[in-house]
Amino acid sequence: MYKKGLYKILRNEPLTASVWRMTLAGDTQWIAAPGQFVDIALDGHYLRRPISVCDYDGETITLVYKVVGEGTSQMSRMIPGAQLDLLTGLGNGFSVVDAAQRPLLVGGGVGVPPLYNLAKTLLAAGRRVQIVLGFNTAQEVFYADEFRALGCTTVVATADGSAGVRGFVTDAIAAECPDFDYFYACGPLPMLRALCERVAQDGQLSFEERMGCGFGGCMGCSCQTKDGPKRICREGPVLTKDEIVW
Ligand SMILES: Cc1cc2nc3c(=O)[nH]c(=O)nc-3n(C[C@H](O)[C@H](O)[C@H](O)COP(=O)(O)OP(=O)(O)OC[C@H]3O[C@@H](n4cnc5c(N)ncnc54)[C@H](O)[C@@H]3O)c2cc1C
Ligand code: FES
Repeated sequence: MYKKGLYKILRNEPLTASVWRMTLAGDTQWIAAPGQFVDIALDGHYLRRPISVCDYDGETITLVYKVVGEGTSQMSRMIPGAQLDLLTGLGNGFSVVDAAQRPLLVGGGVGVPPLYNLAKTLLAAGRRVQIVLGFNTAQEVFYADEFRALGCTTVVATADGSAGVRGFVTDAIAAECPDFDYFYACGPLPMLRALCERVAQDGQLSFEERMGCGFGGCMGCSCQTKDGPKRICREGPVLTKDEIVW
């Protein structure tokens, strides 16, 4: 179930040279699970831009986004008080399963944001949460302190070794995370694929594919799974490891 609404920008601040955090006030009752996304209408763009919900409460939604093109660049220029037209309650989101008593969360780049509210949800359910955050360089790292403040055991990996473990998230998992029983991941496709190949545990993965309508109407995001075709925007973005066809 999704809903269209107007949201007022409370804050819009840079976290790194290209990643911003925007906090919006408005109706959050349609957000049902961590890992769901919103779809944002922007002036001059026919297609809305999908961004994961990083965090939310009864009145506010926090989004963390990377400026990659005209739409996200437009967002970074918006000032508090301005209003944005959002669809909320989109996608299935992550589910908290019994198998995940000691879950490992794995985020790569802009795949990190949806794991924040997931971490809060898992911690509230009494789970012991570890997280591995992967970036290219130390300058790109964001949200490591926020995850530590929640109480997650937090490991950073950078491809050039300028912060944390040198290498990819799979290198950091091998070096620093010997004990987990389930994983949740969001990030670039090669990262998700490498994880599934190298990690024996079951898990859930969120796919940030290109989208058209964002709410299930156009079939533009359809992908093949072992259970037949699924729309990433509606039956995803979260798929389980065992249903994915690579
Ligand atoms: C379910 C979902 C959740 C997402 N969550 C986040 C998030 O939390 N934070 C965040 O920063 N981004 C997220 N994205 C990606 C985000 O939607 C795109 O970066 C954004 O739409 C680009 O818009 P633009 O107008 O700035 O760029 P465009 O001008 O449309 O494109 C510029 C560049 O961005 C690339 N791009 C466009 N769309 C995507 C996409 N869907 N995924 C990856 N690259 C893309 C293009 O290949 C191009 O190189 C998510 C995408 C999906 C589908
Ligand atoms: S984007 Fe239209 S069906 Fe998914």
